[in-house]
Amino acid sequence: MKKHNFSAGPCILPQGVLKKASEAILNFNDDDLSLIEISHRSKPFVEVMNKAQSLVKELLEVPDGYSVLFLQGGASMEFLMVPLNLLTEGGKSAYTNTGTWATKAITEAKSLGEVDVLGNSSDNNFNYIPKGYTIPADVDYFHCTSNNTIYGTQMKEFPSCPTLMVCDMSSDIFSRKVDVSKFDLIYAGAQKNMGPAGATLVIVKDEILGNTGRNIPTMLDYNTHISKGSMFNTPPVFPIYVSMLTLEWLKNLGGVEAIEKMNQAKADLLYGEIDRNPLFEGTAAKGDRSNMNVCFLLTDSSKEEAFNTMWNEAGINGLKGHRSVGGYRASMYNALPLKSVQVLVNVMQKLANN
Ligand SMILES: Cc1ncc(COP(=O)(O)O)c(C=O)c1O
Repeated sequence: MKKHNFSAGPCILPQGVLKKASEAILNFNDDDLSLIEISHRSKPFVEVMNKAQSLVKELLEVPDGYSVLFLQGGASMEFLMVPLNLLTEGGKSAYTNTGTWATKAITEAKSLGEVDVLGNSSDNNFNYIPKGYTIPADVDYFHCTSNNTIYGTQMKEFPSCPTLMVCDMSSDIFSRKVDVSKFDLIYAGAQKNMGPAGATLVIVKDEILGNTGRNIPTMLDYNTHISKGSMFNTPPVFPIYVSMLTLEWLKNLGGVEAIEKMNQAKADLLYGEIDRNPLFEGTAAKGDRSNMNVCFLLTDSSKEEAFNTMWNEAGINGLKGHRSVGGYRASMYNALPLKSVQVLVNVMQKLANN
């Protein structure tokens, strides 16, 4: 590994995956052709698509009756596709507003109908997860964001929901066990725990679709993609291939249960240091702290230059906080090893001992 990569996304992927992916660019399957110069309808690529879909189902224990799609347009396109496919004409949806991405999702939903914002943590710069709201039964669906990448907060529990439940899991999918059967639609951009940017994973319960009476443009209709096995048009072949490799890597590691334990160990190590070291403070409410994105500040700004020099010299990359929070953000996605977190913790301890 060249650097300790704490980037928020696109982010670190397993080294072995990157090696196999680069080999496939030059010579895929020993056919003397590149993965990106063969037809997406050829047998070798159809096998990639089938395997990627079945690994998603296996790793997340997706029940029967759900489809797995790899779409384009990023998670941001899902902000629009969700209301287009689930909101009835004149209908209403409910959202929690837990940060920039949730706000963007709400904006798209508002372009099509009324939105009930049930919980909103903007009063404290989104540093907590709102709780204690009741989801009305008469809304067409409820939407939440499981992990707020920018603010470092994560839903530890999901509410009981009397209507369809939709979740943006872009920045914590495959990082912990979730009961997919509780959700009707899950989406996630690939570029955190799956692969390169360019593919968006959608897991959708088939029976919830086609019920709005709304005229949905072809490309934005989930049923279009389901009916063609996620190959209605040319799919993003390279991101899907790399996602398949990453999911294989995860399976070989012991699956989601195993990675959840590793992610917990990384989070315990870093939050432990933040809480112990008087030079640092976390920004997220303790009970809502994300195991994927750890946001923290220096308590003594005179140490900033020294700290920045030290972590740069230690080979750490991507630690700068998002401009709306400031300070630092250590993103610890699945592929980041514990030893990288230890390097960061060592730097933090060295700064305190300086
Ligand atoms: C939670 C969350 N949702 C949505 C997005 C937007 O994803 P995309 O850039 O794939 O549209 C991001 C991007 O970082 C994100 O972290």
